Amino acid sequence: MDQLIIEGPTKLEGTVKVSAAKNAYLPILACVLLSPKPVHLKNLPKLRDIKTMMVLLKNLGVQISEKGEWTTFDASKVISQEATYDLVKTMRASILVLGPLLTRFKYAKVSLPGGCAIGARPIDIHLNNFAKLGAQINLEGGYVSAETDQLNGCSLVLSFPSVGATENILMGAILAKGRTIIENAALEPEIEDLGNFLIKMGAKIEGLGTSRIVVDGVPFDELKEVEYEAIGDRIEAATYIMAGLATKSTLTVKGFHTNHLEAVLTALSEMGAKIDRDEYEVTVYPSDLKGINIETSPYPGFPTDAQAQLMALTSQVEGVSIITENIFENRFMHVPELRRLGASIELKQKTAVIKGESHLKGAPIMCTDLRASAALVLAALASSGKTKIQRIYHLDRGYECLAEKLSQLGASIDREKNVPMS
Ligand code: EPZ
Repeated sequence: MDQLIIEGPTKLEGTVKVSAAKNAYLPILACVLLSPKPVHLKNLPKLRDIKTMMVLLKNLGVQISEKGEWTTFDASKVISQEATYDLVKTMRASILVLGPLLTRFKYAKVSLPGGCAIGARPIDIHLNNFAKLGAQINLEGGYVSAETDQLNGCSLVLSFPSVGATENILMGAILAKGRTIIENAALEPEIEDLGNFLIKMGAKIEGLGTSRIVVDGVPFDELKEVEYEAIGDRIEAATYIMAGLATKSTLTVKGFHTNHLEAVLTALSEMGAKIDRDEYEVTVYPSDLKGINIETSPYPGFPTDAQAQLMALTSQVEGVSIITENIFENRFMHVPELRRLGASIELKQKTAVIKGESHLKGAPIMCTDLRASAALVLAALASSGKTKIQRIYHLDRGYECLAEKLSQLGASIDREKNVPMS
């Protein structure tokens, strides 16, 4: 397994451009299965999760070709509607193929994703609403199978604004007969991006960006060939912005819609961060920051995917911070690792109390999940001495060329390949 060696404390300097959003492209890749016409996607980020989804599509019979910054998908000859455990277990987002397979082929069999480090992450909201659309759902042998003569549109109310459930149901509704109304839909920007892609593909959708999405099903043969590039990755952007602040650097982060990060930018400003911004880029400056109290919540609230990174930052600021994680039941796996660097963090159920101005010292630490790993990198940049970060395959899921991008910004960071696990 590879590991990162980071020598801190370090300053960062310059400009970093974020990649296209993983959490927009994953559902868009699932949409490839909806149509027999080619789909051309631009600048797919080179991430493990994207590769996993592409392998899953190939296993189902999708032809994939790459030319320069474009990747073309041809799902005219899908030969299977079954997503097997060996792939799904490595990436929960595989469940997103359920909606497209079910609505096009009237059948889908997907391995249950199972839990992951950050929580049980059930899919009841997905399945209950597919049943309301007319699917027979069967859970057996670790798989969920869904079949129908025809999905029929109806009014649905999600019991929680689940991102994945909103996306899965939205994709399933595209070819359903009649009108589907999704109330209490999640508002994350990646869902609006998915919807814009689907409209370019020929779908009829109203209400994108609101909690009430209305879909009028269209005939399968009306779907069109489509070219698309997803929005920039707001969580990658938040990660670099907080890395800049944690190392008291002047750093520009570009390539994303800054209005997709309002809650994060507002929180950082409240902490005293000096920030310049325009529509597609943010520049942070060395700032004397003070602690903050935040709670994660569904968009437009503070994103759970930026919680771990904020915790690493608050270990460096003046005063005490309180972070409450409301979305996932076990998303504090980064705390024991941050403590190994010297952070002073107390946990009480879903709340963390972080004492500021910790003088972090480099140490061997270990990644546990994607965003926790990003928090460890931030902390290592601010720590004095050498930090070895193991199990960085977690990082590779969601950060394209992280070590290279940080090294270009002046960080002392090396990736050691195939190091035996200690
Ligand atoms: C998406 O996961 C993201 N993943 C996650 O990002 C992100 O943390 C999450 O949304 C919340 O913003 C992708 O987009 C691929 P949810 P998802 O359904 O869809 C519960 C990352 O770091 N729930 O909104 O799985 C669930 O247990 C990843 O890039 C049910 O109870 O999130 C959780 O507590 C991590 N039943 C809460 O809702 C369901 O049927 C939010 O989950 C579905 C969800």
